[in-house]
Amino acid sequence: MPTYRAPRGTRDLLPVERAAFARLERLARELAARYGYREIEVPLFEQGAVFERGIGEVTDVVEKELFRVSPSRGEERERWALRPEATAGICRAYVEHGMQTWPQPVKLTLTGPMFRYDRPQAGRYRQFWQWNVEAIGDPGPAVDAELIELGLRFYRDAGLGDVEVLVNSIGDPACRPAYLAELAAYFRRHVEALPELERRRLETNPLRLLDSKEPSMAALVAAAPKSVDALCAACAAHFAGVRAHLDAIGVAFRLEPSLVRGLDYYTRTTFEFYRRGAEGQQQALGGGGRYDGLVELLGGKPTPGIGFALGLDRVVLALESAGADPVAEHGPVAVVVGADPVDTAGRLAVATRLREAGLAVRADLSTRRLGRQLEAAVKEGAHFAVILGDELAAGDVQLRDLDGASQKPVPLADLVSLLRRKTAGA
Ligand code: HAM
Repeated sequence: MPTYRAPRGTRDLLPVERAAFARLERLARELAARYGYREIEVPLFEQGAVFERGIGEVTDVVEKELFRVSPSRGEERERWALRPEATAGICRAYVEHGMQTWPQPVKLTLTGPMFRYDRPQAGRYRQFWQWNVEAIGDPGPAVDAELIELGLRFYRDAGLGDVEVLVNSIGDPACRPAYLAELAAYFRRHVEALPELERRRLETNPLRLLDSKEPSMAALVAAAPKSVDALCAACAAHFAGVRAHLDAIGVAFRLEPSLVRGLDYYTRTTFEFYRRGAEGQQQALGGGGRYDGLVELLGGKPTPGIGFALGLDRVVLALESAGADPVAEHGPVAVVVGADPVDTAGRLAVATRLREAGLAVRADLSTRRLGRQLEAAVKEGAHFAVILGDELAAGDVQLRDLDGASQKPVPLADLVSLLRRKTAGA
């Protein structure tokens, strides 16, 4: 057992897995740019109130899962928390930097780690990575459909062809109170059947009961009143608009009337992405929705918004379980090795020159024998070895083709152009 280990619920991403993440990050960046989203970064921690107000006090994320951060000393009396998600921080930044004066909508994207102190298990980590996309300042419904299509495209391009989207509308402040009253009355009629936590939530946040993790709640939830049946005229029209736009761009979706999401800021459209047939806990590959009240809640002018976050860890896991090939790693084109065990400066100088010319090169800086240096170069998949030996006095090195095992002397001055020519297209 090693003395020090990564904290429970966190993982080291070793190079092969990091390469899989990097491929997804590249895809996310490329798609975000293609759809007109610009990158933003917000801090990994914020004033706790940003999350408490934004996400809601009576949510798992805030009640149980916030990593509180307190400085051990200093002038700061602030109570901070590591970000459990990015939307609240992005909306805080929108308000702080007066983005309501920019052309609307402001379309932003962010990829990075989030932190939730939850019970770790497969697919649920205490540090995990999300790709976020947010369109702030557009009331929809067309942008709702555009975002859903973007999410599905990401999964498809990533190599997951069987992802479907579940869609719902949970109304707005005009129609939600009456629906919540109806929902609470329904669950009160069944209060005997409710587990302790759900009884408490019945009084504070009845919508959350629809998202209960208790298996014993499944039947009750299935028979509960649906928000889609209680939408006001404006919300109903909006939801019809979302569906019509999805149809118009040929996006298949599934209506899921009990999809409520775990964060309080949502209004109207909510959606989640799953692999077909895998809809349990910890299985959502991504989710999002509209948050028309969030900017105002954080001190800005009333501003509509919608976005999603896709969980990159879960996408990598899904790709692995679907048997996708690991991402090819590129070894160095060449390794500079030397017969003289003390001439590491000579090897480093040649490697530096080749790197300056844009070639991926490793210098063997060890004192091991030449044969061992060559073995290591073969093992890491290098195509060439540049061998520094006696010919160096005449300005030559030996260039060994490790794939073909041939070797010949070449002038040091020609090495860059020769290697470039030989590796073009490799
Ligand atoms: P969320 O549903 O809480 O939404 O998280 C989005 C995705 O992040 C999940 O579907 C899942 O793939 C991944 N995820 C969440 N928690 C974990 C975890 N503990 N371990 C691994 N993966 C996890 C949000 O975060 C919203 N901010 C999405 C959004 C953006 N809504 C509007 N804009």
